[in-house]
Amino acid sequence: MNFQRHRRLRRTDSMRSLVRETHLHVSDFIYPLFFVEGENVKNEVPSMPGVYHLSLDLLEEEVKEVVSLGIQSIIVFGVPDQKDDCGSSAYDHNGIVQKAIRQIKEIAPSLTVIADTCLCQFTDHGHCGVIENGYVVNDETLKLLAKTAVSQAEAGADIIAPSNMMDGFVAAIRQGLDEAGYTEIPIMSYAVKYASSFYGPFRDAAHSTPQFGDRKTYQMDPANRLEALREAESDIAEGADFLMVKPALSYLDILRELKDRYPLPLVAYNVSGEYSMIKAAAINGWVDEKSIVLEKLISMKRAGADLIITYFAKDAARWLKDNQ
Ligand code: PBG
Repeated sequence: MNFQRHRRLRRTDSMRSLVRETHLHVSDFIYPLFFVEGENVKNEVPSMPGVYHLSLDLLEEEVKEVVSLGIQSIIVFGVPDQKDDCGSSAYDHNGIVQKAIRQIKEIAPSLTVIADTCLCQFTDHGHCGVIENGYVVNDETLKLLAKTAVSQAEAGADIIAPSNMMDGFVAAIRQGLDEAGYTEIPIMSYAVKYASSFYGPFRDAAHSTPQFGDRKTYQMDPANRLEALREAESDIAEGADFLMVKPALSYLDILRELKDRYPLPLVAYNVSGEYSMIKAAAINGWVDEKSIVLEKLISMKRAGADLIITYFAKDAARWLKDNQ
């Protein structure tokens, strides 16, 4: 009989580990943190069990835990007290993100701090840019975005991660950073960001739901693949150092395609809705949380992600340690 015995390589644990093609490591993870004004605030986001809004006096404990788990990098979001039509607290020297970054760098200088660079958490209308006649205007928004990036770099951010999907945002930020002397600060572009329903729980967390309309004039149509390549290509041409695909799970094909085509480090954003769905099912006892989370994280790496932004980073770091 002529057939292949694939099962030979699956016979024992040790044999399976010899031929394993993809590995998860704690250094693959980027952990998102949300900071708010106030004192002694630790509010759980209702739709994201295990994810908190933290005030800055509780930052040290959190950062030390992250570091002790071996996590190398965090991405910082801020929820300000004051919002206005142009998101001015996004580029305020004493904005919540700037204050958080300064504190983190003091406590953990070697932790890589990524600043999410966007306006939607800071605008009273919840859009990611400046509004004129009900439309988010591109070029006016770029100026504010570049200003935000520079103030985050000034505060000590190691990486700038622009997420608002304006055209030319990488070029504008690169120019802004370079002119301010931050030539060594890389840009992690949310190059391919879909207008996704999977962001719902994050918008609860960041209080950034648009007050009118939606984000479909700047974020991408989930039906499109070639458009993702155009977005990635223009960001590379403008000087992006990392590319990101967001969300991750429903877009594994896009991750693979970008990895095959472009020689840049690739990041998958395992977004809030992807987190909440698993959490909800786990709390109900319908799935085994640990094994399902590790399976989905490895699927993102197999699809081509080098790094994964995930709310499961701390849990996954613990589970990987236990498995050793
Ligand atoms: C917006 C932004 C979004 C997320 C991070 N920054 C999405 C959006 O509201 O459009 C989503 C993250 C998540 O869902 O986990 N600049």
